[in-house]
Amino acid sequence: MTPIPPGDDEMTERLLESLRLSEAKFSGIISIASEAIISVDESQSIVLFNQGAEQIFGYLADEVMGKPLDVLLPEEYHHTHREEVREFGRSPVMARRMGDRDTHIMGRRKNGEIFPAEASISKQEIGGHWLFTAVLRDISERKRIEKENAELLERAQDAARTRDDVLRIVSHDLGNSLSGILVTTRVLLRTLPETPGNRDTRKRIESIRHLTEQMQRLRQDLLDVARIEAGHLSIVAERHEPEALVDSVFDDFEALAQESGLKLLREVDPHLPQVVVDRERILQVFSNLVTNAIKFTPVGGAVTLGAHRVDGVVRFSVSDEGSGIPPEDLPHIFDRYWQAKSANRAGAGLGLAIAKGLVEAQGGSIEVASAVNEGSAFSFSLPAAPE
Ligand SMILES: Nc1ncnc2c1ncn2[C@@H]1O[C@H](COP(=O)(O)OP(=O)(O)O)[C@@H](O)[C@H]1O
Ligand SMILES: [Mg+2]
Repeated sequence: MTPIPPGDDEMTERLLESLRLSEAKFSGIISIASEAIISVDESQSIVLFNQGAEQIFGYLADEVMGKPLDVLLPEEYHHTHREEVREFGRSPVMARRMGDRDTHIMGRRKNGEIFPAEASISKQEIGGHWLFTAVLRDISERKRIEKENAELLERAQDAARTRDDVLRIVSHDLGNSLSGILVTTRVLLRTLPETPGNRDTRKRIESIRHLTEQMQRLRQDLLDVARIEAGHLSIVAERHEPEALVDSVFDDFEALAQESGLKLLREVDPHLPQVVVDRERILQVFSNLVTNAIKFTPVGGAVTLGAHRVDGVVRFSVSDEGSGIPPEDLPHIFDRYWQAKSANRAGAGLGLAIAKGLVEAQGGSIEVASAVNEGSAFSFSLPAAPE
């Protein structure tokens, strides 16, 4: 190479020459990079502008060569940016990220659009002069997704707050009204003589009472789901005999099973260890499982309540001879509000979600085994109390 006398134009020429050489060397990499690679000389004029930069900024290299870097920046950044590059030129650091606020800077496209970018800058000394090279990535898409996600999260939180508000109204106001209706129906039934003339009226009042009780149960279920989700479930645990728990369930459901044309059976291992549980909550788990078992088992079938010892735990079970659950439904069965497509809509799809929450809140686990047209077996295990 022939030495070139100093002077601004000469300097630029020399820089361009070394750049052309290094570009020739790295041209493959520089041109295919999807990042913008932009070099400026000491006077901050653009001396290299790769294809990535053309794509991101919308300029052809020829349009910006020799122009000040400012054309690629929004007006309000011109001054700070110049200072930043100058300061970087003086600092002993050879490369670093650009921008300060959450490490992104703003770029300006040919069409005037301003966009966020991530950039790092490095410097090389060539023939006694500095060359600054920025590698820049357009992050507007990422920022857009981040913003969208933040908005979605906000909306989800809003929805959750609204739901909690609705639940509070349901729990107080609706609860009071339902209790009022129940008291009134009881008074009516007590005061209305059971004469043949009153038979139809009494039946209608009975039906109001029945429907109101259903609403009370739904209200209770919604509250339980909210409590389970919030981790606010109160559990009063005491030692109980597994057999006594099963017997209690048996007594509660024998009549309903009979009415439905089913046999209710029990299979309880002798000498089972006690379990430390909230009795009412365990009966509620059983109640949810047995109601389903009865609902899904055809006339003539049997529902079996079980309690067995399996290493260190007592496993309670409710098995039926009903329709069974298709394998593709099994993963959803304990989800809130979930019901099989074919299910009649008589429930809200909360029973199993509540059963799972109640069992887990007492240190246990629940599972299901099922085969279509053969039946289902739900079982939940609870730790055995120390002897
Ligand atoms: N013993 C069972 N046999 C067949 N399907 C069942 C059984 N128990 C639950 N399921 C299925 O799981 C769904 C959810 O049950 P559950 O949470 O108790 O809600 P719900 O009883 O209100 O529908 C039911 O709708 C049904 O599709
Ligand atoms: Mg149910």
